[in-house]
Formats: sequence, C-alpha cells, structure tokens
Amino acid sequence: MPLASGNEENDHMRNASKTLISSFVLAGTFALAACSGGGDKAASANPEAVKEAKQVWETRCVTCHGNNGLGDGPGAAALNPKPRSFSDKQWQMKTKDEDISKVIVEGGKAVGMSEAMAANPDLADKPEVVDELVKIVRSFK
Ligand code: HEC
Repeated sequence: MPLASGNEENDHMRNASKTLISSFVLAGTFALAACSGGGDKAASANPEAVKEAKQVWETRCVTCHGNNGLGDGPGAAALNPKPRSFSDKQWQMKTKDEDISKVIVEGGKAVGMSEAMAANPDLADKPEVVDELVKIVRSFK
C-alpha cells in the first residue's frame, strides 16, 4: 500500500515540525525570562551575595590575583609559584567550578597547591558568596 505509507510519512513530517516549532517557542520563552532578569545567570543571583563577593574579591584577592585576574597583583611579585592568569583558556576549560570553590574556601594547601593561597574559612557557610566568587574568576576568561 504505497499510498497509505506515503500518508504516514506525511504525518510524521507534520508531527516532527510541530515538535520543532514548539521547542522554538519554548526556547524563546526561556530567553525572554532570562532577559527580563537582567541578563545571563544574574536572574537567579542574590544581589547581597553578588555585592559581598565583589567586596571579598577586591579586598582579599586582588592583592595577589590582580584587578583583571592576571596573577599580577603587588602581593604576587615575591611569590613562587605565582598565581596563574585566570584568562588562561586551557585552565578555564579543564577546571571545574567545584575545584575553584574548594581552593577558595579551603586554601591552596588543601588541594596540593601553594599555601600562599590562603583559606577563607568564613566563606564555608556562605555558598552563594563562593558561587559568585567562582563567577568572578570565570569572568576573566
Ligand atoms: C597572598 C596571595 C593570594 C591571595 C590573597 C589570594 N590568592 Fe588565590 N592563589 C595564590 C597563589 C600563589 C595561587 C597558586 C598556587 C599554586 O599554583 O600552587 C592561587 C591559586 C588560586 C586559585 C586556583 C588557581 C589554579 O591554579 O587552579 C584560585 C581559584 C584562587 N587562587 C582564587 C583566589 C580568590 C578568589 C582569592 C580571594 C578570596 C584569592 N585567591 C586570594 C595567591 C593568593
């Protein structure tokens, strides 16, 4: 029955394009939702945590890691090993968010790196602030 099977094929096609169209509509809805929150992941971010993370970065981290995360802060000059540049794409790709948050909270020594990278135990119960610090580190790539 060549005719019947032909119709079936048409039905499949129609269903397939329906699915395609509804996924476009869905994607559009998500994009809209993200935009109305002020862009990318900021939609779900807690503004207090963002503020605190920025403050922590500027007061504790820039000394060594530098304003642009290049590892060229004044405190890094005498260090060996020096902090890497966070703009290193290879490092950004191979490093997981958990690796970054662990070294921030527990310090370099806990993960086999230099103990010059101090622990920040006060952030252990502020996971949102740590998440935002991870985003700052990611922002230099
Ligand atoms: C006293 C200088 C100093 C300060 C202050 C400092 N760091 Fe570091 N940090 C280092 C050094 C040195 C390393 C590299 C250690 C190594 O390679 O053995 C490092 C490593 C890191 C790494 C891991 C990078 C890698 O190679 O995987 C991250 C992430 C990081 N620091 C984030 C921070 C953040 C966020 C802060 C502020 C809360 C901070 N650091 C404060 C010196 C510092």
